[in-house]
Formats: sequence, C-alpha cells, structure tokens
Amino acid sequence: MKEKILALLIARQGEFLSGEELSRCLHVSRAAVWKAVESLRTDGYRIEAVTRRGYRLLESPDLLSTGLILPLLDDPRPGRLTCLDSVDSTNTYAKTLAAAGAPAGTAVIADRQTGGRGRRGRSFYSPAGQGLYLSLLYRPQGDPARAVNLTAYAAVAVCLAMEKVSGLQPGIKWPNDIITDGKKLCGILTEMSIEAETRLTDYVVIGIGINVNQKPEDFPEDIRDVAAGLAHASGRPVNRAALAAAVINETDKAFASWESGGKAIYEQYCARCLNIGRKVKLVRGHTETEAFAEGIDEDFRLLVRWPDGTREAVGAGEVSVRGVYGYT
Ligand code: BTN
Repeated sequence: MKEKILALLIARQGEFLSGEELSRCLHVSRAAVWKAVESLRTDGYRIEAVTRRGYRLLESPDLLSTGLILPLLDDPRPGRLTCLDSVDSTNTYAKTLAAAGAPAGTAVIADRQTGGRGRRGRSFYSPAGQGLYLSLLYRPQGDPARAVNLTAYAAVAVCLAMEKVSGLQPGIKWPNDIITDGKKLCGILTEMSIEAETRLTDYVVIGIGINVNQKPEDFPEDIRDVAAGLAHASGRPVNRAALAAAVINETDKAFASWESGGKAIYEQYCARCLNIGRKVKLVRGHTETEAFAEGIDEDFRLLVRWPDGTREAVGAGEVSVRGVYGYT
C-alpha cells in the first residue's frame, strides 16, 4: 500500500493528490492513507499535506529502488528493472539475465559494486550511496559491426540525462568518457555476445558508471585528479533515482534512433566530442604518438592527421587516447 501511494505521488511529479482520490484509487480509508504517508515520512520522504488539496511529494531520499524509478520511466514495464544493494558487477549480472533469455530493455542497477569493471580490464570505483551503476540489455538486429556503435549512442544519452537532472552540459572524450572541466563523470563499458554460427548479435549490455555524490576528497588518491561527481560539478543536489530514470529513458530513445538509422545522435556526438580540433596522444600497445584529431567518422572512429600529413581513421579497439591537455 505504501509503495502504491508512493508510485502515485511520484507519477504526479510534485503536484497535489487529494486524500479522497488516493483512498478511492486504492480502496482504503483516508485514515489508512494518512498512516501510510506517515510511514513514508519515517522512511525519509518529504511529503507536504495541505487541507483541501491533499498530499504532494517534495523530496525523495537518495535511494535506488524499483518503486522510485519505474514510475519515472517512459517504458515502465514491470519486471524490466532489478535494483540491488550490492553486486560484483551489474554488467556481469545483466549478462547472466541475457543468457537466460531476458528481454531487450532489461535494466540492472546497484547501489554498490564489489568488482565494478572498466574498459581494458581496469576496475571501476563503485562505493555505496555515491554513484549510479547501471547496465542495460538490448538485442540489436543485423551486423554486429554496427552494434559496436551503440556505446557512442549511450554516451550521448548519458550527456542528455545529466543535462536534464543537473543542468550541467558535459562533453565526451573519445570514445565514451563523459567529462566536465577535464574530469571524468562517467565511464561506459559495452559488452556483446555474438552467436558463432550465424555471426549475429545475441545481446549487447551497456554498462554505465556515473560518479554522483562524491566530493573531490571522497575519491581515492590515484583518481582524485581525474574524477568528478555530478552533484559537486553542477552545484546542485542530484537525486540518483531521477538520474537513473533519465539515463534509461534517453538510452532507450538512443537505441530506437540506432535502430531507425537516424543521424541525430552522430551529430550530437560530434558536437560534444572534446578531442576534435585538438592534439591527442594515441597509445598503441607500448607506442605513444602525437596526432591531430580532425573529426569523427560515421562509425565513430577518430579521424587523425599524423605529423607527416597522412590521415587515418582509428577505432576504439586499436588505440586509446591520452590528452595532451590533462585528462581530455
Ligand atoms: C570505464 O570507464 O572504463 C568504463 C566503466 C564502466 C563502469 C560501469 S558501472 C556499471 C557497469 N558494471 C560494471 O562492472 N561496469 C559498468
């Protein structure tokens, strides 16, 4: 009952809902509604009660739960979202669900990861109560080579979601780090499974890790100079459930745009890419070479000009980029 009242209040998005309407919808007495509201307040929800207008939700505690997130989704299919207190890696968990036949759109969120994974075998710092660790499962049709681009689509989706909830306009460090002021707010790890016989994509899991509530001093020393929290960077408190919902909604839209072959996301990616028009250091194995980043092609490869004037399109699997100017 408490969860149902909460869902109705969230769906109203800060507007009043009368006690009479609540008791009618839920077939309970107004006294029972009042009791449930009191209990929600004890859980940390700030709910205003005004005579003749009813109740409205002013603030939710910064928790990640299906009750808080599902009502904010454009596609709130029950069962699409799993929220966990702790898990080794949401990507690993989502891949297990995918192998067991979970449908496209399945999402896994954790408050904390004990073995959060980053690109190139690195770990991803994932403390409780501070970040958003989210994995989304899709089942793209067609050539797996095109599905690789989904990670860039997700980068644009995360930027749009961050903008929506915090007002901050982040940029993208090629291929898919989300950056503000030269520091990393978010990393994305996309993993795919391809069926060997047909060479078709079985599933893609897009793993998104966002630093949200950390202040600079909260990061371990080795990443303090290169990492930032969204709330601190934007100067606004960020509700992680609202951020999670915005990221899922924007990534769903980005996936639909990938399916329809639209160019809008590619254009947004280029507009946000911080490397274009700057010198970059490209690392291939143990070799580091400086080049000039001229643009991004439609497969999201970085178009570079080498010092001898020759040009090349490099893929994210071949090289990594080190900034000549700090992290970017
Ligand atoms: C990177 O910056 O190298 C990518 C980091 C990706 C981290 C996210 S957190 C949610 C998902 N689960 C993981 O284990 N990794 C991704």
